[in-house]
Amino acid sequence: TKEGYDHFMIKEINEQPRAIADTIKYKMHEGDIDFGENAFTKEEIEGFNKIYMVACGTAYNAGIVGAYAFEKFAKIPVITDIASEFRYNDPFIDKNSLIILPSQSGETADTLAALRLAREKGAKTLVLTNVVASSLDREADKTIYCYAGPEIAVASTKAYTTQIISLYMLALDFAKKLGTISEDEYKNILEEIKAIPEKVKEILNNIEDIKKYAQEIKDFESMFYLGRGLDYSSVIEGALKLKEVSYIHSEAFAAGELKHGTIALIEEGTPVVTVATQSNIIEKTISNVKEVISRGANIFAICTPDDHLEEISNYAYILPKTIDALYPVLAVIPQQLLAYYTSNAKGIDVDKPRNLAKSVTVE
Ligand code: F6R
Repeated sequence: TKEGYDHFMIKEINEQPRAIADTIKYKMHEGDIDFGENAFTKEEIEGFNKIYMVACGTAYNAGIVGAYAFEKFAKIPVITDIASEFRYNDPFIDKNSLIILPSQSGETADTLAALRLAREKGAKTLVLTNVVASSLDREADKTIYCYAGPEIAVASTKAYTTQIISLYMLALDFAKKLGTISEDEYKNILEEIKAIPEKVKEILNNIEDIKKYAQEIKDFESMFYLGRGLDYSSVIEGALKLKEVSYIHSEAFAAGELKHGTIALIEEGTPVVTVATQSNIIEKTISNVKEVISRGANIFAICTPDDHLEEISNYAYILPKTIDALYPVLAVIPQQLLAYYTSNAKGIDVDKPRNLAKSVTVE
């Protein structure tokens, strides 16, 4: 049931503090990360010379954030690929490759075909799913569960955040076993992960500006999402969420690519959402934001307390503080809410957007 909420989507968005806390809790034992029988041993991990992260839609978008954690913490190169591409691309994989396949439902046809192909080629497979005993779960070498609880709304929300947290914890487990991370850094990241549910709660209580911006953009035909680095991964998900439930054409761009074509589309009043959280490139993002502001963009900036984007943006949504690596988990929440409230403002059936099915079991 919707438990008093108007729609499943908003109920599931609001469940994220609990869902994330559960996904953390069930991957821990005596205060440390422990995947139990689904853990890879140190020797197995040492044998992986690359990882492929393969999935569809929102699960793919979680995968591109997770890929960052494996490269950054475990120092293993990761190739991300969309399952419907991977399966026909004759991927260069063998017994030294690990294929990680995130899938909320565990039933997506292209992801399942990708898993079978990987197994045929002798690669190791790990599925990250929310559904116990789903097809992907049954056929994988190892499975990690999200513990998000049933996701009913077509637009995926709590699966995305719990997938990212799960992938980060797995990357930390790899890093510790490989010795590619210091004990202090490992502990610090784990503490920051544990603090995420409370921070998500804080964001969920701060929705007034999001509702106002939803009213301002609802009649536009197209809008843009800008970010760099992990913020770019984040806006890819934000733009997907908005387009599927509000039917507004929303495009995510790496902010640095703007001037190579896209900026031609910015006019007076064009809505632009920007996520600006990554300290190493914040100045660059801000200068890209200034470029679109000077062409009249209506900016909703999702940022950190240190950015001062409120001085130049129409709206500045300030996130609770965390480490750079974890901002995608926080930054997506206002983007999910924006998609939800824009859909509502347009009178769309947000839980069942046109042309979409919850689980895509055909090619
Ligand atoms: C978007 C959405 C889809 C799914 C995709 C993969 O909100 O829900 O993009 O993420 O169809 O589904 P799973 O994760 O079940 O493999």
